[in-house]
Amino acid sequence: MKNLTLLSLVAATLLFTACGDKTKEAAGDAANKVTEAVKSDTASAVEATKQAAADAATATQAKAAEVTAAAGDKAMELKEAAATKVADAATALKERAAATTQAAKEAASNAVDSVKKTASAAVSDNAAGKALFAKCAGCHGANGKTKALGKSAVIAGEPVADLESKLAAYKAGTRNVAGMGMLMKGQVAAMSDEDIKAVAEYISSL
Ligand code: HEC
Repeated sequence: MKNLTLLSLVAATLLFTACGDKTKEAAGDAANKVTEAVKSDTASAVEATKQAAADAATATQAKAAEVTAAAGDKAMELKEAAATKVADAATALKERAAATTQAAKEAASNAVDSVKKTASAAVSDNAAGKALFAKCAGCHGANGKTKALGKSAVIAGEPVADLESKLAAYKAGTRNVAGMGMLMKGQVAAMSDEDIKAVAEYISSL
């Protein structure tokens, strides 16, 4: 009995030892596997992270390049638009300047025309005055320098206003210098103020 027990003990011990070894071995294997797995997972995770970072960097670079290109395009567009606006403004200014110059030219030419017309009107007035003076020339001389009937003053070159007021006074019957006022009244009785003005201007110009 004692031997059997001892034997059992040895066997149990042996068995236990064997089992312990196997368990140890299995545990060791498992640990190794876990370690391997963890190592491998960690490596893949690191690899994946690296890849993701690289991808993100590439994407960021591409996006940045895109944004830069777009900004460049926009800047070019703005530049072109600004240049167009400046050119348009310059053209408008040129056109306005040309129009102003043209208007000034036209105004100048119109002014010249109107001066010419006035001058020619003045000439024709003088012609009217000259025509009116024809009937006066018999006594006052063709150049207005004859003393009419030896009695009047020389009328050529007298100021227009003086001639006008004298002729108006003869017409009204209020002037009589040498006793021949009524004779002169008869000469100018039918003359209008315009006629008197025209003939006075003509006599003054002689
Ligand atoms: C028939 C001759 C005669 C004719 C024509 C005649 N006159 Fe006279 N005129 C005289 C005499 C004379 C006097 C002086 C009158 C007086 O006694 O105030 C005179 C005086 C004048 C005076 C004033 C001169 C002065 O300075 O005192 C003027 C101006 C004048 N005549 C202009 C004219 C005009 C213009 C006409 C034509 C529309 C004209 N006469 C036609 C004879 C004439």
